[in-house]
Amino acid sequence: MGLEFNDSAKKELERIKARYPERQAALLPALYLAQREFGYVSDEAIKYLAQVLELPKSRIYGVASFYTMFNKKPVGKYFIQVCANISCAMMGADGLFDYLSSKLGIKEGETTKDGKYTLCKVECLGACGEAPMMQVNEKYYGPLTREKVDKILSELK
Ligand code: FES
Repeated sequence: MGLEFNDSAKKELERIKARYPERQAALLPALYLAQREFGYVSDEAIKYLAQVLELPKSRIYGVASFYTMFNKKPVGKYFIQVCANISCAMMGADGLFDYLSSKLGIKEGETTKDGKYTLCKVECLGACGEAPMMQVNEKYYGPLTREKVDKILSELK
């Protein structure tokens, strides 16, 4: 067998399967788990999920492709997603994105050479009250200023 969850992720998957007896409903949390464990949802990860959830690979691939939060290629250790939607845009998200981009030396969708940071613009993350905001891995940060961005980046080192 190729790619496989470690023991604790396997236990978590069993809990997901128990909570969602309908395999289809277990798919999203299982994809989250796969992304967290493997860093991104690779073809091997899809093949593995197909086996353990007993779902067709095409179905898993379709769901993983539909949702933009699932990465189909490797991302940096810190995956920075800057919300570019209306509330954040009105509060200066574009300028903050450009600031991050020049500070990290990468453009939209790129990863720093050392593999540390990937920078993306995303649609509303559902935290508009914190606008302008960004998500780094699973954590939300906002409302952001350049000074806060500097502080966050220095803490991520
Ligand atoms: S518009 Fe940015 S979190 Fe909703």
